Amino acid sequence: MAVASFFNNFTFISFFLLSLSCISTFAFNGSTLSFDDAYSPLFGDENGNIVRSSDGKTVRLLLDSHTGSGFISSSPYSYGFFGASIKLPSYYTAGIVVAFYTSNGDIFEKTHDELDFEFLGNIDGKPWRVQTNLYGNGSTSRGREERYQMWFDPSKEFHRYSILWTPNNIIFSIDDVPIREVVHNDAMGRDYPSKPMSIYATIWDASSWATAGGRYKVNYKYAPFVSEYTDLVLQGCAVDPIQQVLSANCSGKEADMSNADHAVITPERRVAMQKFRERYMTYSYCYDLRRYPVPPPECVIVPSEQKLFKDTGRKLRFRSHHQRQSKRRSELPVAKISDGQAAM
Ligand SMILES: *[C@@H]1O[C@H](CO)[C@@H](O)[C@H](O)[C@H]1NC(C)=O
Ligand SMILES: *[C@@H]1O[C@H](CO)[C@@H](O)[C@H](O)[C@H]1NC(C)=O
Ligand SMILES: *[C@@H]1O[C@H](CO)[C@@H](O)[C@H](O)[C@H]1NC(C)=O
Repeated sequence: MAVASFFNNFTFISFFLLSLSCISTFAFNGSTLSFDDAYSPLFGDENGNIVRSSDGKTVRLLLDSHTGSGFISSSPYSYGFFGASIKLPSYYTAGIVVAFYTSNGDIFEKTHDELDFEFLGNIDGKPWRVQTNLYGNGSTSRGREERYQMWFDPSKEFHRYSILWTPNNIIFSIDDVPIREVVHNDAMGRDYPSKPMSIYATIWDASSWATAGGRYKVNYKYAPFVSEYTDLVLQGCAVDPIQQVLSANCSGKEADMSNADHAVITPERRVAMQKFRERYMTYSYCYDLRRYPVPPPECVIVPSEQKLFKDTGRKLRFRSHHQRQSKRRSELPVAKISDGQAAM
């Protein structure tokens, strides 16, 4: 019985997410870019760790015992929509971080802005986790992390990850399902990213913290670790990297972007986002009252969501699919579970 009810529920959610992505037109028009049109190597190329496909549309980033690798967009953008379909390394990936993010840290060392998708590797048999975060004007002492499990194995196939950034809102999406929205709020001040940023993808060794707080390191017996990128999309106001970072005039384009289909979360998408968050989010800084006794101003406290979290911001109880499959007791995670059962 318990197993059957899990399957019904899980199938429903999968179907729901799937059908949602079919009806949405989250901007991947087929107008994808070739790697060399969109990006330039950042590091690792000289070691042969950036490998382009013959049609130039797909690129692999490798991590081996010599170096990781990464690429950077050929221009910075003043707001925009940035996406890639990504396939992560499989098997033993502890200690590895794969990131897809925007930043201007190369130009503004102390006052940089940043929007992150970070994928944290794991020991064999345990799932990758994903984290989103943002910084503005060097607000590195005020992390805004959320962490999630994914509803699929991201090392099996390509999945689409995108970051929308407008003056009004920021939306992180996976397979066209919005998973996090940050709505601009005057009280955030410059913590809301506002200066032109470049788009990056990297793979690197973060043995000191990425898996179980550094307990499991990268094991180069399994190298090279390969992450793969395709369906590259960069839309927005491209800015001259040297001359115009501080004087970009993108006012017309900003309005277009804010009104674009993918900048607006329809009621259907909002329901899907809420379901995703209740089911798969495992940490939110907004509910971490030990870190932020007063949640930062952009936090939207959703009661149905909040009751799933402890005051450390961690999920009261989180189980991976396999555990849920065999042990599932109720329809949805509920609040009256003891702290001792929390994962992570
Ligand atoms: C996407 O497709 C629509 C309709 O086919 C078109 O109007 C729009 O210009 C396209 N956008 C891009 C960025 O190609
Ligand atoms: C950005 O940060 C710098 C360094 O902390 C600070 O001096 C400056 O006032 C900030 N800018 C704004 C507009 O808040
Ligand atoms: C930016 O461009 C808009 C129209 O494209 C123009 O009206 C505005 O004056 C420009 N602003 C600056 C600071 O150049």
